[in-house]
Amino acid sequence: MTLPTTPIMGDGLPPALREMLGPAFEILEWDESPDSPVLARVVGIITYGHPRVDGALMDRVPHLKVISNHGVGVDHIDVPAAKARGIPVGNTPGCLDASTADMTMALMLATARNVVVGDRFARSAEFTHYDPSQWIGHEVSGSTLGIIGLGRIGRQVARRALAFDMKVLYHNRRRDEEAERELGVIHVPLDELLRQSDFVSLNCPLTPETTNLIGSRELALMKPTAILLNLARGPVVDHDALFAALDSRRIAAAGLDVTSPEPLPRDHPLLGLANVVITPHLGSASDRTRHRMMQMTVENLRAGLKGDPLPWAV
Ligand code: DGY
Repeated sequence: MTLPTTPIMGDGLPPALREMLGPAFEILEWDESPDSPVLARVVGIITYGHPRVDGALMDRVPHLKVISNHGVGVDHIDVPAAKARGIPVGNTPGCLDASTADMTMALMLATARNVVVGDRFARSAEFTHYDPSQWIGHEVSGSTLGIIGLGRIGRQVARRALAFDMKVLYHNRRRDEEAERELGVIHVPLDELLRQSDFVSLNCPLTPETTNLIGSRELALMKPTAILLNLARGPVVDHDALFAALDSRRIAAAGLDVTSPEPLPRDHPLLGLANVVITPHLGSASDRTRHRMMQMTVENLRAGLKGDPLPWAV
């Protein structure tokens, strides 16, 4: 006798996540085509690779009980629309703070110390002898880091930066006095942070307030030796303004784990610049973190399907 399975929809769920879900679920591929046979059946949605879920899509899923997001950022889900329809939305906060902070440091070091261009050079025929005048980067140790968005991830970035003897400034809408006491980080207005920092790290969520937060005015305030790091979301930065600032060396470099759009069109001018390091949204892409993210995604899904409060509700 085969037991009934619970139909859920996901976008390209990997084998490890399917295995965690187990045989109790019928996993249907993402299909929001006008005559989709899937939407009328599914009771749960897993958003794995940031597919957009808005109120119009929710209205086409009459039995939807829960949206479980694999990841902490939910800017691709219309959360107020879900709330208005009584559909809980879950995410995976906390488990990815360390890995995303590690990646922030990876991009900081890579951009500052010419890791990517140096790698290309070291493989090329041009590398004929060691020349101490080549590839001189910016010293990370002892520099000033400005963190925009001192949340869970931002705090972990601050901890790592302190181990590099950096002075850490931060800008949040509200001061975090506990973090100031605990870490010695200093709250400054945004413009002050941009003026003083050698590295500006974006670790904030994407919201209407943070969309295009960094544009030509803000880039013009930065030091010509400064490096911008975006581990948040692409639309936090105006990419035309960023290209202009990098191309003219108004700022020294950028490390971008996220872009807008994502991926950038293959002929996007940013991809032609040597002073940019771009990674394909790898912030939380470590083995341990991914495993935990999947567990939390499954736990949220199961709770929502039972009508229980989600362990990690947005
Ligand atoms: C997040 O957690 O928001 C990451 O961007 C992965 O989705």
